[in-house]
Amino acid sequence: MEIKKVGVLGAGIMGAGIAQVSVQAGYSVVLIDVVPEIANKARKTLNKAWAKALEKGKVSAENVADYNARLICGTDINEFRDVDIVIEAIVENIDFKKKVHKQLGELCKAETILATNTSALSITEIAAATNRSDKVLGMHFFNPVPVMKLVEVIPGVVTTDDTAQTVIQLAEKMGKEPVLAKESPGFIVNRILVPYMNEAANVFYEGIASAEEIDKAMKLGAGMPMGPLALADMVGIDIVLAVCEFFYKEFADSKYRPSLAFRQKVRAGHLGKKTGKGFYNYM
Ligand code: 3HC
Repeated sequence: MEIKKVGVLGAGIMGAGIAQVSVQAGYSVVLIDVVPEIANKARKTLNKAWAKALEKGKVSAENVADYNARLICGTDINEFRDVDIVIEAIVENIDFKKKVHKQLGELCKAETILATNTSALSITEIAAATNRSDKVLGMHFFNPVPVMKLVEVIPGVVTTDDTAQTVIQLAEKMGKEPVLAKESPGFIVNRILVPYMNEAANVFYEGIASAEEIDKAMKLGAGMPMGPLALADMVGIDIVLAVCEFFYKEFADSKYRPSLAFRQKVRAGHLGKKTGKGFYNYM
């Protein structure tokens, strides 16, 4: 199956980034968020990114006009009726995801693939809630989406090879490097990266070093592009905590116990960059 029109549901940091790379790859894109302010903010973010690219001479004014002409940004989920794939990037909650994918299955044409950008949740469970479990899979992007080259492709237990191959080709056309992973909590990257961020939060909570010192240590001592606490701020501490909670429940292993530092930050509403405060202050 050839993908021509891409739908993206959820216009937060990830959804906006996925819409951006899809438009840049030549697809017609429908980006929907049920919250009008979030949809408007995403449109502004993309315009800003393209204005910056224009300034740097990476794209022409014609390219930007073409991008805008191929992007619909709104709040009406019915716009997905004729898309070939929906990439869902809503809140990391299994009940919401199941509800939304069931709704998408009822709304979209029979061939439409339903992809979820879940960080860790079960693809099979989401797929089972739909009328097309063979066409549901994980398509996991990394933050910041326009920069990070990887896309994890995760088939559920009944996803067809055709569906997986179509999505692998889509990721390649977006300029990404797809890696196929079996369904398991956190797949490859988050299974390894999230416990690392969690341990950094524990080191912080125990007062062993400040956030700046922890991040400096991991950058200069382990060659990381950014420190683990700055990374948690960038990803969103609520998201990192949700993944930790899921691992802890799913594996029933104390090594995945979420750091109390994450819990405290989330309770305070200090979710990282998106709220202006996390381990660092961005205001
Ligand atoms: N959005 C778009 N573009 C961005 C960006 C952003 N948020 N941040 C940086 N960039 C671009 C810059 O514009 C610049 O582009 P240019 O070369 O065209 O000028 C390029 O990236 C490099 O930026 P900088 O020189 O300012 O900064 P760095 O070289 O330090 O790179 C970084 C920034 C790419 C964020 C780098 O620090 C990095 O790779 N950090 C680790 C990111 C990471 O691990 N992401 C995965 C998170 S886990 C995840 O997303 C999964 C989820 O399920 C939890």
